[in-house]
Amino acid sequence: MPKLTIAIDGPAGSGKSSVARLVAGILGYLYLDSGAMYRALALKALQRKVSLDDETRLEKLANETHIELKPASVEQEKGGVKNRVFLDGTEVTQEIRTPEVAQAASRLATIAGVREVLVAEQQRAGDGGAVVMEGRDIGTVVFPNAELKIFLEASPEVRAERRWKEHQEKGEKTSLAQVLEEVRERDKRDRERRVSPLVRAADAVLVDNTAMDAAETARLIVMLVRERERELAGAAGGKP
Ligand code: CDP
Ligand code: CDP
Repeated sequence: MPKLTIAIDGPAGSGKSSVARLVAGILGYLYLDSGAMYRALALKALQRKVSLDDETRLEKLANETHIELKPASVEQEKGGVKNRVFLDGTEVTQEIRTPEVAQAASRLATIAGVREVLVAEQQRAGDGGAVVMEGRDIGTVVFPNAELKIFLEASPEVRAERRWKEHQEKGEKTSLAQVLEEVRERDKRDRERRVSPLVRAADAVLVDNTAMDAAETARLIVMLVRERERELAGAAGGKP
């Protein structure tokens, strides 16, 4: 069977990480969370108190930073970790999952020079195919030739509720209204930015999982993968 590159894009809380991880598990593919790279760089900028308006310094910071994604262990997966994230060799898997880091990530993700550095890293990481990468611009910029592109959607209310539940489980006190406000703010910034905005690629399949759980959504995407595999095998001269 041909090894595909699968791009999953969508707004915050649409289920990208959960669904992409499940799909990668079913197919035996590598799972890569591109958003974790923006979050890791944002964490470094916050730690060093670099102004999120200082584009030149942030671009320089991106060039001087080494971010690596590694598969999570079975134990870690049980705790909800899907990718382990290393910032200059130090693990920051948990530290990057705060609302403050999420907002900072979406601010520095508007800077073209920062994106260039991280996109090049993502392209290297997914180079060999047999990969499911998720983010905002995977189907449009990082892997425009991906054999299967999914644009994952869900209503803002449901997406905020999903995020809020995660905060509750971690014992973090925040209201649903506050999470909804944060999700809307980040979506707006991601969709309206000048460079690589969050937009559905013309050839992406729109999957709205407002009323589906992650496992159902993953099953649907795997069906689309099987269909693409048959098409590709047919085009290569094999039996469809
Ligand atoms: O990566 P993204 O922000 O798009 O979403 P996620 O982190 O995969 O999902 C956010 C939360 O929603 C997780 O706790 C998932 O388990 C949950 N989820 C869900 O309840 N139903 C779905 N169809 C997808 C995700
Ligand atoms: O998990 P969630 O959907 O909340 O966010 P994430 O995927 O961890 O991404 C955090 C932020 O990084 C997003 O709000 C985007 O601004 C940015 N990002 C991006 O610009 N391009 C990507 N390919 C992935 C993330």
